[in-house]
Amino acid sequence: MKKLFTLILLALLPLAASAQQQSIDQRVEELLGKMTIEDKIGQLNQMDGRRDLEKIKQEVRTGTLSSIMNIVDPAVTNELQRIAIEESPAGIPLLFARDVVHGFNTVLPIPLGQAASWDEELIEAASANTALEATERGIRWAFAPMMDIARDARWGRIAESFGEDTYMAGRLATAVVRGYQGESLANPTAMAACAKHFVGYGDAEGGRDYNTTSIPPRTLRDVYLPPFKACVDEGCASIMTSFNDNDGLPSTGNHWLLTELLREQWGFEGVVVSDWGSVAGLIPHGVAHDKRDAAHQCIEAGCDVDMSSRSYLLNLKDLIEKGEVEEAVLDEAVRRVLKLKMALGLFEQPYARTAEQSDIYSEPVLATACRLAEESVVMLKNEGKVLPLGESVKRVLVVGPMAHAPYDQMGTWALDGQKEHTITPIMALREQWGDKVAIDYVPCLTHPRDKSTAEFKRMTKAARKADVVVAFVGEEQMMSGEAHSLSSLDLQGVQGEMLEALAQTGTPLVTVFMAGRPLTISRQVEISDAVLYAWHPGTMGGKALANILFGVANPSGKLPVTFPRNVGQIPIYYNHKHTSHIAKGTEGNLDNIPRESPQSVMGHTSSYLDVAPTPLFPFGYGLSYTTFELSDIRIESTAVRPEESVKVSVVVSNTGEREGTEVVQLYTGRKTASVTQPMKELKDFQRITLRAGESRKVEFEVPVSRLAFHNRNMELAVEEGKYTLTIGTDSQTGLKTYFKIIK
Ligand code: BGC
Repeated sequence: MKKLFTLILLALLPLAASAQQQSIDQRVEELLGKMTIEDKIGQLNQMDGRRDLEKIKQEVRTGTLSSIMNIVDPAVTNELQRIAIEESPAGIPLLFARDVVHGFNTVLPIPLGQAASWDEELIEAASANTALEATERGIRWAFAPMMDIARDARWGRIAESFGEDTYMAGRLATAVVRGYQGESLANPTAMAACAKHFVGYGDAEGGRDYNTTSIPPRTLRDVYLPPFKACVDEGCASIMTSFNDNDGLPSTGNHWLLTELLREQWGFEGVVVSDWGSVAGLIPHGVAHDKRDAAHQCIEAGCDVDMSSRSYLLNLKDLIEKGEVEEAVLDEAVRRVLKLKMALGLFEQPYARTAEQSDIYSEPVLATACRLAEESVVMLKNEGKVLPLGESVKRVLVVGPMAHAPYDQMGTWALDGQKEHTITPIMALREQWGDKVAIDYVPCLTHPRDKSTAEFKRMTKAARKADVVVAFVGEEQMMSGEAHSLSSLDLQGVQGEMLEALAQTGTPLVTVFMAGRPLTISRQVEISDAVLYAWHPGTMGGKALANILFGVANPSGKLPVTFPRNVGQIPIYYNHKHTSHIAKGTEGNLDNIPRESPQSVMGHTSSYLDVAPTPLFPFGYGLSYTTFELSDIRIESTAVRPEESVKVSVVVSNTGEREGTEVVQLYTGRKTASVTQPMKELKDFQRITLRAGESRKVEFEVPVSRLAFHNRNMELAVEEGKYTLTIGTDSQTGLKTYFKIIK
């Protein structure tokens, strides 16, 4: 009976949802009908809250503010909300927004680190926790996830991305959307997510932030747009435009992008918000004369909300009165904003939720953050099984500027993280292991750019006494993030020299990197016995690393981005195209190049003379304390139709001595198509945990539609023909099989 009741309830759920939507639509129309043109324009204006509070109150009172960013004190947001409801002309509640990018008070690993976990369930759970913390502070609109494809580690915002792969970015970004938005936006613990930056921002020329992009239409559609489409399909409530211009058009004024593609083709019904000042940004871009012209272009293009430039506020009325913009265009944008506010339940419950028991820094929230930090750590080397530190280790020397960098460890965009809550590696190591192992600590450098060698002697002396040295190096929080690009990715200060000095002592050296991006670390990898890459791991990073170092946790992270050998190799990414002269064979050693020989002795391949064609570490790479083997790849049918799925299985065996998790990765590729293709592309992945000695058959079912690309006629279609399918534990190795798509 109970089951029947549940079934009936489940069957009625979609009906209830559509009834709710109908009633929202109706309420919006009623409200819109009563609003003056000023009320409407006010609903498209979003401003920063880090200004004079009395001024802000006045703006709210006069109805010229719809949404406020960056106020996280519920006493203030509630007071502003009360003014909006009780004193503003239309009485419409405000929406409070914030860059809740990777955690809120409890800072999660930077998104690039989260991506290294390849664990969408955990990312969803951690994001849901983030929403718990942020909504307690009155935030109901989060400017995340960011899903810019990033193939250039010089770009500081690579830290905020899910890395270089389109499919992976889509899967992980949608996990964040689910985590933030929950079952229903009306739930007071839910935040509206914002897919950003639409589009192509990560391809900034030379990796310099805000720079021009030149992404051709096919690449735009096959590489940069799909993660956004995935978020639209997931019900993401909003989309943020990007700062960049692509092929001459800044995104915020791009009608094709914001209206024809996003609304008409994809059916997106949510809110489009500009990036900070990017409406007025059309002026420095050189495609608008002034803010009036910029407002005109952007509202017509389909950008609903003007973030912080006041171009709409100051000009839309005049544009409408002079007949240059139709009021219907304004109405449409306002409708979307009102729908979002209603969907969030702000008309019923406008104030910051009060939690009976605060979720901020609560045990479960911290525990999930710790797990995510553990899973984000990628082990790049473990020679002689130095790790995990075992019983023979009686004395550990901890060194390096990142061993205790509570602020830097949080990474970029940790707006609400408080360094007093950060657990650093030295804190965790002492707390967890201090009574079992002697832990010496010589920071040696005060911060990563420190150039002083004064402590080297003391450090090497201590290293000689220790059974193992664990060095924490990397880069400060300030080195990545928005407007923080770099032209060199080498370790800064004298960190490199510090590691050289340590290596020379002969004591086994474990190097742990904390950084917002892949650094160029060839030499440091060479001289270290073991290497862990921990990104900026957030509040719980120290505990996570202590767990990994001592084997309480087993590394399972895999690189979400290719590690270059040097900056000159950039852009370097695994899914590069087939070319006529594929890079191979060169060893990249100038000393071995003969003098005065014919040019042809070097062959004719797409390589550099002075560096090997391969990366330092490929996408998907990462080691574990155990070992895994793949065998017995089996494809159910070698001929599939476009509407079918490719079903394939592989046996994964844990051949080592302890439990571990492997990320099994499935790539497809094709040699011949109507347009040139990537050598291979990730099309699915699964995290598999196996006990020592355990084997399991892992099954994949990849819809053939996932293999569609924009063909010679620029149609999204699946092409007939032969495909390779590789299942591996990184992007460069694995078991191969073949199938054909037939029509
Ligand atoms: C960034 C966005 C961010 C916005 C609001 C901009 O500068 O590009 O990612 O959401 O500021 O803070």
